[in-house]
Amino acid sequence: MNMNGTDIALKIENVTKAFGSLKILKGVNLEAKKAETIVILGRSGTGKSVILKCIIGLLTPDSGKIIAFGMDSHNLTKEQRPIFRKKIGYLFQGGALYDSMSIRENLEFPLIRQEDYQGELLTDKVISALRSVGLESAIDKMPSEVSGGMMKRIALARTLILEPEIILYDEPTTGLDPFTSKEISELIIKLKEERKVTSIIITHDIPCARLVADRVVVLKDGIFFKQGTFSEMESSDDEFVRGFFDFK
Ligand SMILES: Nc1ncnc2c1ncn2[C@@H]1O[C@H](COP(=O)(O)OP(=O)(O)OP(=O)(O)O)[C@@H](O)[C@H]1O
Ligand SMILES: [Mg+2]
Repeated sequence: MNMNGTDIALKIENVTKAFGSLKILKGVNLEAKKAETIVILGRSGTGKSVILKCIIGLLTPDSGKIIAFGMDSHNLTKEQRPIFRKKIGYLFQGGALYDSMSIRENLEFPLIRQEDYQGELLTDKVISALRSVGLESAIDKMPSEVSGGMMKRIALARTLILEPEIILYDEPTTGLDPFTSKEISELIIKLKEERKVTSIIITHDIPCARLVADRVVVLKDGIFFKQGTFSEMESSDDEFVRGFFDFK
């Protein structure tokens, strides 16, 4: 969506959020361009997931605005709500699938909820989403029968099925071996190149960030206090920023 003549897909303006007296977000600002991949770095428990939940509408900011596709995420009309929700995909931290449903049913679920798909068309959509993560063969398995890495890819397929324009990833590669992690990173790149998807990715996985990030932003004390390219951040003169890259 074109906003004010620029190619901004998502704009976060001065967002604050507290839980009781605990102020987590103190004025978060971010503009993501269409097809841009932004990686968020930050210490555990400092509000990274809260930011994504504010974008998707699971949490309401105390103040500030989140604008995407010309819509204000917290002032949506009844008509806008499902459109907004469909255009933004969210990959949960942990990638949860419904345990009691097969992979096929897990993938059908968002489609049946959002749109009027049935029969063969529904199956085609499910197969095509699974194909894009290389897991067509898992369609009739149960979540308990697939590995952790497969689970993450299937959760991504479920996010892809509604063809979102923005995808929010909460630690998409955590707990995966370096090879599987690289496969996920390559998928993120493919979505950017083929579908011009805008991605916001929370990760502690530095090799993944190196592969995917157009820009890295660092959350500290409730704001994005530094940002730049991967190599700028890696060689930052700020010790806190460098700490994310330095394992020695
Ligand atoms: N719904 C909620 N109610 C109360 N407090 C919350 C809620 N959601 C998050 N918090 C608090 O907000 C803070 C930030 O949580 P958040 O989940 O965003 O951390 P994070 O940066 O994603 O950490 P991690 O890297 O461990 O996932 C934490 O102190 C958490 O306890
Ligand atoms: Mg988190």
